[in-house]
Amino acid sequence: HPSITVLGAALRESPGDTPGDPPRTQPLTAQSRPFAPFGTALHLRLPRTLRSGERLCLLIDYEAGGGPGVCWLAPEQTAGKQKPFMYTQGQAVLNRSFFPGFDTPSVKCTYSATVQVPEGFTAVMSATRWEKQKDNTFVFEMSQPIPSYLIALAVGDIVSADVGPRSRVWAEPCLIEAAKTEYSGVIEEFLQVGEKLFGPYVWGRYDILFMPPSFPFGGMENPCLTFVTPCLLAGDRSLADVIIHEISHSWFGNLVTNATWGEFWLNEGFTMYAQRRISTEVYGAAYTCLEAATGRALLRQHMDSTGEDHPLNKLRVVIEPGLCCINPDDTYNETPYEKGYCFVSYLAHLVGDQNKFDAFLRAYVNRFKFQSITADDTLGFFLEYFPELKEKGVDSIPGLEFDRWLNTPGWPPYLPDLSPGQQLMKPADELAELWAASGLNMEAIEAVDITAWRTYQLVYFLDKILQKSPLPEGNVERLSRMYPKISKAQNAELRLRWCQIVLKNNLEAEYSKVKDFLHSQGKQKYTLPLYRAMWGGSEAARALAMETFSATAPQLHINVQNYVKKILGLEGAE
Ligand code: BES
Ligand code: ZN
Repeated sequence: HPSITVLGAALRESPGDTPGDPPRTQPLTAQSRPFAPFGTALHLRLPRTLRSGERLCLLIDYEAGGGPGVCWLAPEQTAGKQKPFMYTQGQAVLNRSFFPGFDTPSVKCTYSATVQVPEGFTAVMSATRWEKQKDNTFVFEMSQPIPSYLIALAVGDIVSADVGPRSRVWAEPCLIEAAKTEYSGVIEEFLQVGEKLFGPYVWGRYDILFMPPSFPFGGMENPCLTFVTPCLLAGDRSLADVIIHEISHSWFGNLVTNATWGEFWLNEGFTMYAQRRISTEVYGAAYTCLEAATGRALLRQHMDSTGEDHPLNKLRVVIEPGLCCINPDDTYNETPYEKGYCFVSYLAHLVGDQNKFDAFLRAYVNRFKFQSITADDTLGFFLEYFPELKEKGVDSIPGLEFDRWLNTPGWPPYLPDLSPGQQLMKPADELAELWAASGLNMEAIEAVDITAWRTYQLVYFLDKILQKSPLPEGNVERLSRMYPKISKAQNAELRLRWCQIVLKNNLEAEYSKVKDFLHSQGKQKYTLPLYRAMWGGSEAARALAMETFSATAPQLHINVQNYVKKILGLEGAE
C-alpha cells in the first residue's frame, strides 16, 4: 500500500495542515486536543510503493500523556498518599492516546518498551520479560502477539511479594501485607484448574497489581499482570471471583480475542463461563450457582433500567454512528457478561455432557489461539466439532436460533439451571420475605442466624431486599440495627448493596454511608448505579449526588466522570 493509517488521538499533522492537504512525512507534533473515541488518523505517505511481502520499518517520534488512556494520579489519590502514581488503561479504545498504532482488537503484535522513571518509583508492564537496568530504567518485552488494548504500564511507589510459584502481588508498601495475605497460596490453584480445563497457560507469570482506589474496574486482564481494585482486599478472600475471572481471560480474550468490539461478548461471555467452571471445581456447584444468581440479578436490574429491547441488549452490537453508539466503552454493561454466559451455557446444554464441552473449549482455544475472531468463527467451529448437533439443526431451533441469540435484544431465551445453589439461596429468600412484611415477625427473623453466611449469600439476600424495596416504614432501620455486619460492612460488594437499599428506601439517616463509599473508591460498576439511584430519588438524594460528585470528580477516571455527568445532566458525555 502506498500509504498507512495509524490511529493516535494525541497526534495530529503539523500546524498548518488543513484537512484536505495531502498527508506529509515531516515529523509530527503532539498537541493536546479533545479526545475522540475514534481517534485521529495519522496518514503517512511512503516514499515508494512496496512490493507485496516487503517489510517496512516505521519510526514514529511522538509525545503522549494527556489522553484518557494515560492516568496521572496525585499523591492524595493513592493509598499511601506520599507519591504520585500513573497507569494506563487501554480497553476498549483508550490506548490510541498512549501510543500510535492499529488500535483494534483484530490486529495482534508483540511489543517491547524501555521505561525510565524517577528515583523511588517502579515501572511494571503487561510483559513476559522484564529487567531493571541502571538509571532506574526498566526494559520490558512481550513475546506473544497481543491486541493493542492489552498493552499496559503502571508506575508508582510499589513493591512486590510472592504468592505462588509463578505469581506475585504488587502494591503500595502500605497495602502489600494485606495483598499477600489475601492471595498467598490460592492463585496457583486457580491457574492449575484453568490449565486442566482450558489448556496450557501460555503467559509465563501471572502477577497481580493492586491499583489506587480510583481504578475504574474490579479487574483488568492485562497479560502477565492483572490490574485490580484495592476493594478486593476484603480480608477473607471473598472477592476472589474477580481474580478467577481475570485468570480466565488468559484463554478467553487474551488468547482468543474478539475481532471487533461489537462482539465483546465473545471475550466476556466465554470468560464468565470459564470463571464459573473454575469456581465450580474449586468451591463447588452450590457456591458457584449462588454467585451466578447474583450475576443474573444484575442482568435483571440492567434490563429493567434500559428496557429489554434496548439495542445494547443483544450480544452482537452495531457500533456505528446513528446506531446504538460510536464508542465501544458505551457498550460496557451486564449483557455481554451475563447474557453471554447464558449463551455459552446453552451451547454446553446442547452438548449435554460437561466433559465433552470442556474438551470442546480446549479445542476451541487451541484452534484460535493468538487470533482474533468473530462469533461466526466460534459457532462455525462449534457445529464442525459436533457434527451430530449440526445435523440436528441446533442452530435454528425455533426461539433459540443462534441468530436470535446474537441479533435480538432481550432476556436470554435459555437460562442455566442454578438449582444447586438453592441450599444457600433458600434461607436468604425466606429471610428477605420476612423483612418485606408489614408487621415484622421478629420471632421468625431472630430465629435465622446469619453469622455464618458467606459474603455472596449476604449479597444475594440484599439483592432480594433491594428488589422488594421500598420496604414498609421502619423495616430498613430495624434491619440496619439488627445486622451491623451488613450495614457497617467494609466489603465493597456489601457496601454497594447497602447504599442502594439506603437510597431506594430514602433512609436519610444513612446517606453518609453513600457519600463515604463514593469517596473511598471509583469503580464504575459501583459508582454509576449509585448516582442513578440518587438522581432518581428525592430532592435530598439529588443534592447528595451533586455534593458528592463535586467533591470526588477529580479523583474519578475520565470515562467514569463523563458517565456520571451524563446521569446528572451536566455537560460532558456525548
Ligand atoms: N476486561 C474487563 C474490564 C473492562 C471491560 C475494561 C470493558 C474496559 C472495558 C474485565 O475483565 C472485567 O470484566 N472485570 C469485571 C470483573 C467481574 C465481571 C468479575 C469488573 O471489573 O467488574
Ligand atoms: Zn472480563
